[in-house]
Amino acid sequence: MPISTALVTTDRPARYLKQLISHLGHKTTTRLLDDTRGTVTVTAGTCALSAGPDGLRLLADAADLEGLARVQDVVARHLVRFATQEELSVDWTEPMAGGDLDILDPVVDDYLLSHCTPADEVLRQLAATTREATGSASGMQVSHDEGVLLTMLTRLVGATFAVEVGTFTGYSSLCVARGLAEGGRLLTCDVSEEWTAIARTAWEQAGVADRIDLKVGAAVETLRALPEEPLIDIAFIDADKDSYPVYYEEIVRRLRPGGLVVLDNVFLGGRVFDPAYQEAHHLAIRELNDFIAGDERVESVMLPVRDGVTLARRR
Ligand SMILES: C[S@@+](CC[C@H](N)C(=O)[O-])C[C@H]1O[C@@H](n2cnc3c(N)ncnc32)[C@H](O)[C@@H]1O
Repeated sequence: MPISTALVTTDRPARYLKQLISHLGHKTTTRLLDDTRGTVTVTAGTCALSAGPDGLRLLADAADLEGLARVQDVVARHLVRFATQEELSVDWTEPMAGGDLDILDPVVDDYLLSHCTPADEVLRQLAATTREATGSASGMQVSHDEGVLLTMLTRLVGATFAVEVGTFTGYSSLCVARGLAEGGRLLTCDVSEEWTAIARTAWEQAGVADRIDLKVGAAVETLRALPEEPLIDIAFIDADKDSYPVYYEEIVRRLRPGGLVVLDNVFLGGRVFDPAYQEAHHLAIRELNDFIAGDERVESVMLPVRDGVTLARRR
């Protein structure tokens, strides 16, 4: 399913958004999600609109290129017509396949990796062991720059109690454990004995094994067994995507004010942007992303780090 985006530079993005939704609402299906977000669905496809500080952002998608051109044309024509006091220009990107979207150019990815605190010997060795022992599954491991981000966030919130959902071979756990305050503990959970055995060895080598509690079993049970009090300082969610909404809910209610929940893979390799993908995990992440953006218990931001990382801080 092809997608295309445009940024329409204007000082009045919210006004145009509402005008478009209201006008096209007479002929097509439109939705106004809040003052700054909405969608227009015509027979050929859909355009999502969001008003931001730099203008009106458009994301059009359709079943084929012909349909995409029709969606682009309807939206652009109306916007240009509404702008009686300024000349708007709607410059669409070339059509891309939503599911194959590279968030960052590989050159940028490499540059980021080589410009953060480097991995030490234990982390380098763990990455190599994971590749040898798990083959293609090793792609599940967080990249090193994301690991550095986790250590830094853990340190910044002064965490004494951290929770992780999705241990795998322990790279992200090690990064979180290294950021804990004096006496702090990390509870991490996974269903795999095999993968977490590799993790235990690495934690021993790094000298952090004594501050990590590993629980092997379904994460939802581990989370539900936690006390209801808001004791969690930071949590990292990186496991089965269908269950992210449940993990988020169980964690947010236990976050202390100022505590942080970090969610990995919120772009699903670009599939989250493309409505053609309708499997349970696509729907779960898409709905959760929308939900978090409007969740009044937290302030949140989505970062284009690797496959998309959401930070949600409990108010
Ligand atoms: C993406 S990997 C985690 C990667 C890890 N954070 C790292 O950086 O190495 C996802 C992990 O979630 C685990 N997992 C899948 N379903 C689970 C469940 N229901 N409960 C707990 N863990 C689960 C998998 O066994 C896998 O190890």
